Amino acid sequence: GPLEEACLPLFFGWFLCPTFQDKLRNMAKDFLKNLQGLEDFKKHLSDFTGEAEKEVVLEQYFQDKGMLHCTTKFCDYGKAEGSKEYAEQQAVKDRYGSMSELKLSALFLTPRTLGARVSLTEEQLQLWPAGAEKEAMPDADLPAGSRAHITLGCAEGVEPLQTGLDLLELVLLQQQGQEGEQVQDLDLGPLAYYGKGMWVLNLRESSLARACFCSYYG
Ligand code: A2P
Repeated sequence: GPLEEACLPLFFGWFLCPTFQDKLRNMAKDFLKNLQGLEDFKKHLSDFTGEAEKEVVLEQYFQDKGMLHCTTKFCDYGKAEGSKEYAEQQAVKDRYGSMSELKLSALFLTPRTLGARVSLTEEQLQLWPAGAEKEAMPDADLPAGSRAHITLGCAEGVEPLQTGLDLLELVLLQQQGQEGEQVQDLDLGPLAYYGKGMWVLNLRESSLARACFCSYYG
């Protein structure tokens, strides 16, 4: 009934511990500063401004979206398709409130979003909703978990939902064999440009972030 439905959260996901939130925010900040200074980035600045001469400060361009987390299932308080089924899964019930380590494998940005790619373990994939990739990209055949990410910031007027879509676009390009234009080796790892303002920094040493699997009601 309506009471039960009202009990479903806005979304389920892994919520980073405060220490790791700070760590990741700082890492992203350093990355943006670094990127901003690169000639190769300046060359493609118009992807972000629309006109080459305009000034862009990346750190201000991306607005913080609050508590850092990796969404598993967006339920919209039960209005999203499959929410009830997801919430009733044994794995979801069993692991609710448990801690795990999220493996961050890359940082990426587009003119819309800034995010961290998350590589889920087999165990974590048990909490990944079936069809999350198909729902966003019906014609592609991407492995489960391809969409897993942490939104670090969005351009003005862009919803965080966009971050996962941007990541899927990048993963699709990679699946099609594109490696991007290898731009430079940064301290954190190799940086590649995929066109249309899409940049990927593959983390040389993937960092682990402690996170709690639970839900957010808003
Ligand atoms: P993300 O997981 O990319 O950060 P909002 O504040 O817009 O209601 O979103 C709450 C959270 O749920 C955000 O983390 C957001 O994006 C995610 N989200 C919003 N809409 C969807 C959707 N349709 N599918 C998957 N995740 C969503």
